[in-house]
Amino acid sequence: MPNKVDFNPDYPIIAASDALYERAVGIMTPVTQTLAKGPGQYVNGVAPKYVERGNGARVWDVDGNEFLDYNMGIGPVSLGYCYPKVDAAIIDQLKDGISFSLMHKLEVSLCELVHQVIPNAESIRISKTGADVTSAAVRVARAFTGRKKVLCCGYHGWHDWYISVTSRNSGIPEEIRNLSSTFEYNNIESVKALLDEDTACVILEPFIFEAPANNFLQELKECCLENGTLLIFDEMWTGFRIAIGGAQEYFNVIPDLACYSKAFANGMPIALLTGRKDVMSLFNEEVFFFTTFGGEALSLAAAIATIHEMIAKNVPAYLAQKGKQLKDGYNAIAEELGIHQYTKCIGYDCRSMVTFDASAGNPLELKSYVQQELIKKGILWSGFHNMSFSHTDEDIAYTLKAYRAVLTLLKAAVINNEVSGSLRGNPVEPVFRKLGNASNKPVVKA
Ligand SMILES: Cc1ncc(COP(=O)(O)O)c(C=O)c1O
Repeated sequence: MPNKVDFNPDYPIIAASDALYERAVGIMTPVTQTLAKGPGQYVNGVAPKYVERGNGARVWDVDGNEFLDYNMGIGPVSLGYCYPKVDAAIIDQLKDGISFSLMHKLEVSLCELVHQVIPNAESIRISKTGADVTSAAVRVARAFTGRKKVLCCGYHGWHDWYISVTSRNSGIPEEIRNLSSTFEYNNIESVKALLDEDTACVILEPFIFEAPANNFLQELKECCLENGTLLIFDEMWTGFRIAIGGAQEYFNVIPDLACYSKAFANGMPIALLTGRKDVMSLFNEEVFFFTTFGGEALSLAAAIATIHEMIAKNVPAYLAQKGKQLKDGYNAIAEELGIHQYTKCIGYDCRSMVTFDASAGNPLELKSYVQQELIKKGILWSGFHNMSFSHTDEDIAYTLKAYRAVLTLLKAAVINNEVSGSLRGNPVEPVFRKLGNASNKPVVKA
């Protein structure tokens, strides 16, 4: 019998997952198209590798095991899997067609809606992926300023200008690498040290888990303005989550350009670039940014339905409320058990993260142990609470009950030095974005 969302007596059977994986390894390099969904983020031999379907906040793997999901498609599934109103909009559009030979009317409808809800959306472009729009933003910023250098902070996708600052930068010419550098979040001096007369733009995730301190975002905006550099917010995680308009609305700091994807189409592939009309108008002639599937209509229909539903139900408030119960609940349990010195839940309520400190052992092993035991209890978890509108009070109560049981086991395993020995497979790997985030100054030419 497949496992349920329950205190199951044993770990799930994952034979069908493993069989699919065996078929994949010979022909796919690597097997995953998204690192965060791949086998490196889950304890091998315990966690399922392939999913078959989802509904609400639950997913079923290919062996039929049911899980309460806290990854939610790595962000996009903001309302819930198979959310009826969004699915109905997709199905309605499907009856009329998917991709066409002319512009589609929903392109206009979506942009009118976005124009109303995103503060800096004087002008809007639609595309498919996060990397599409961050890369378009950087290109148009370079064109507008006539400058070359980019300063960034966070993760911005797979394209050369960004990946060149990470440790995985093979295949990117040195000339490109030398044009991008990273700065430290909440350290305005680290930005000032890098800003120069050739800096086209500063791009950052307005926050990840740490809150902006000392007016950081406002100061950043002022520094950029003074230097003639464009400020770009990468709102992939913050948009339609912390507020409908994202961090720019929440903090009232309006960037020159902003990039959105993930949350606003409940899983359909679509992205937005919003910004100042004078900058965006360069896309009319000088700057090239076009793609075949940019006007694909199922995603447009899904985006419109999702945004309307988010406004009608005040989804950001819901995510914050449910996320706070989970975050506060986790921290209260950790404190009660006396393990809060080495594990806590941090971040904003709509998207928080559980951390483990090296004082209690290898943090990746601690995380793996918690993941392994949560999987047994029917919770699909890799350290994050990506809240959705389908996570209910009952789900939160169940998750906290599971956390209490699992953290009690963790405490005993730490005391007895048994964490590593209790793992039934290889521990999870570090999250990629943490690897390449060190400050990286471009080569200064004599
Ligand atoms: C903050 C941020 N920016 C950009 C991207 C790139 O988006 P995509 O993977 O859709 O290209 C991601 C993806 O996770 C992201 O988290």
